Amino acid sequence: MAPLLLFVLLVWAVTLYALRPLFKLVLSRFCSPLRLLPSPPSPSFLVGNLAQISDEENNDIFQSWAQLYGHTFIYRGFINCPRLITTDPLALAYILGHAYDFPRPDFLMEALAEAGAGREGLLTAQGDVHRRQRRILNQAFSPSHIKSLIPIFREKAERLRDIFTQIADALPSVTTTHTDHVLSGPDPCTVLRSPLEPACQPPSTRHRTSPLQTADSFTSTRPAVDVLSWLTRATLDIIGEAGFGYSFHSLPPPGTDHSSANRPESELAHAFAAIFSTSHSFSVLSVLAIWFPFLRRFRPNSRALQEAQATMQRIGTQLINERKSAPLSDEPFCGSRDILSVLIRANATSSPCQALTHSEMLSQITTFLVAGHETTASAITWTLYALARAPVAQAQLRAALRACDKDDLYTALELPLLEYTVREALRLHAPVRSTMRVYAGAAPDCFVPLQRPVRVRWPTWHRLTRRLRFRSRSLTAQEDGNYWWHPESSIHLRHGDIVTIPIQTVNRAPDLWGPDAHEFRPERWTTLPPAVRAVPGLYAHTLTFLNGNGSGTTGNRACIGYRFALAEIKVFLACLLRDLEFTIDDDVVIKKRTNIVTRPIVASSPEIGFQMPLRLRRVPPDEVVGAPNVCS
Ligand code: HEM
Ligand SMILES: *[C@@H]1O[C@H](CO)[C@@H](O)[C@H](O)[C@H]1NC(C)=O
Ligand SMILES: *[C@@H]1O[C@H](CO)[C@@H](O)[C@H](O)[C@H]1NC(C)=O
Repeated sequence: MAPLLLFVLLVWAVTLYALRPLFKLVLSRFCSPLRLLPSPPSPSFLVGNLAQISDEENNDIFQSWAQLYGHTFIYRGFINCPRLITTDPLALAYILGHAYDFPRPDFLMEALAEAGAGREGLLTAQGDVHRRQRRILNQAFSPSHIKSLIPIFREKAERLRDIFTQIADALPSVTTTHTDHVLSGPDPCTVLRSPLEPACQPPSTRHRTSPLQTADSFTSTRPAVDVLSWLTRATLDIIGEAGFGYSFHSLPPPGTDHSSANRPESELAHAFAAIFSTSHSFSVLSVLAIWFPFLRRFRPNSRALQEAQATMQRIGTQLINERKSAPLSDEPFCGSRDILSVLIRANATSSPCQALTHSEMLSQITTFLVAGHETTASAITWTLYALARAPVAQAQLRAALRACDKDDLYTALELPLLEYTVREALRLHAPVRSTMRVYAGAAPDCFVPLQRPVRVRWPTWHRLTRRLRFRSRSLTAQEDGNYWWHPESSIHLRHGDIVTIPIQTVNRAPDLWGPDAHEFRPERWTTLPPAVRAVPGLYAHTLTFLNGNGSGTTGNRACIGYRFALAEIKVFLACLLRDLEFTIDDDVVIKKRTNIVTRPIVASSPEIGFQMPLRLRRVPPDEVVGAPNVCS
């Protein structure tokens, strides 16, 4: 009898232990002070509003909720737990400015770690470890060092320009009507007849192939070039060379035919493709796996993911060891100038208690890959897309670029119009559309200051006693409105409460940017509405790279690579747009889909996966653009 009892008790204990996260959730559902904030109705008991939110980029649901419920409200997550969402500038500055009190929630850290960032890199490090790492890494991302990387950016950008020019030249010369060229050109694998033409490859091989493998095969079935897959190759080469001195050879080298099939793909590129092609699309299982980690092993592809991660680790170790055995030099940029080299030099000269361990260094390599590759590819792709939809803005930028000396890239990079174009594209198409934070400060409660007060519901007991008090008289409409709610100038959070930072929603908020907030207008940057100055953004009053006023003591988790990204984006635009025109057919509907990074799909053929089909045309040197309004 006793053994049986013991066994039953044991089973109970294990079950209770396994269900601990659930108890915590249920507790927060009913006790969090957040539950009293306004919220949209929840369509599902299990996953709350999460399904609606997964398509946020296309349905702008945060924006429509903000219109109904104000700047600060909640939505419902797993088993309807409340999650805060706010576009209030003061609240955002507070939350992002106290980065160590508001880390990313575990499940987000886990997702990033699994996507390849490891558990010891800057993206996933916490508290003091993060502070120590950030201090050393800052040296490698200094403005002067980023400037020294521009020749690497330029080489890749010019290579891509040459490839695009080759493709454009294979098109019939009359390309001014963009809808119907019938192509039988020398290179049928780059361009195609009509958007609706059946694919010349079986769908099964096209389905879910990684961008890295698709540049050639996909374009054969398309009317235009998939700029996303080409840019993904180019930015992979760049983060490899400028980040840690590894040649991915993802773009075909000069002198080879861009369409030559079966180019060997570098090992690391292959591993990385495996990781990023795993589509973490919304499913109940993926939500459950957040809270019950043992479910993760049932997710598709997890074996392939592990193998890919192992490859990344092996190659990373090799790269570090190569650099460590290279003779040490005090000269800042003599020898290899990639970021990893600078890091290893900075580490060697730092005091032992500040230094990075081997596995921390290893994690930085994969962190750069995860954080700096698809993000920039997405940013440049969306910029080209925005310019394709705004031909006048594109022509003006081209005229400004052509007014600069062809060989003087540095002058072109300083053009105000180029800067405005980049700002506007990054505002409208933030590659990271939102992020999350969880309150984890020392005090159990926290009050986040607000610029604009929030409506808070009285707790149930309070409402009941009020009802008793007011029972005897009838209320006016005004009183009735205030009956259940009262305004508060701060948000009450308790330990474990989750906050969504709606990057894209803030970037496009009509009350900050005006009624045309959804339009691509680079010229808006010449005269900004004063309201946007309240946004605590690192760059251009946007949250695209997160916040600008974090410090060493409170933690700074803004994008460390933003100067790298901006320089890279500008070099590509300067090189590509000078000689090439990008257009898109009016009937092609582009939608956004987010898998860590927000990327485009074609609405009519989502099964093909991420793509951005743009048409290319080489612009003759003497082509006159109608009266450009160049702000230089
Ligand atoms: C347009 C391109 C880019 C965008 C939009 C972008 C955006 C962001 C955002 C929003 C974060 C904060 C994420 C969070 O805390 O939830 C971040 C962090 C980070 N980014 Fe970027 N990023 C870009 C390019 C790069 C590049 C090129 C690199 C490196 C070479 C890089 C390295 C990092 C790192 C290491 C972090 C973590 C910083 C920390 O936690 O201290 N990013 N980025
Ligand atoms: C960031 O700025 C906001 C207001 O602009 C301020 O309230 C907050 O304390 C600042 N945070 C830090 C860490 O400086
Ligand atoms: C960083 O420097 C310390 C000594 O200051 C050294 O022990 C450590 O191995 C170095 N880490 C790497 C990855 O080079």
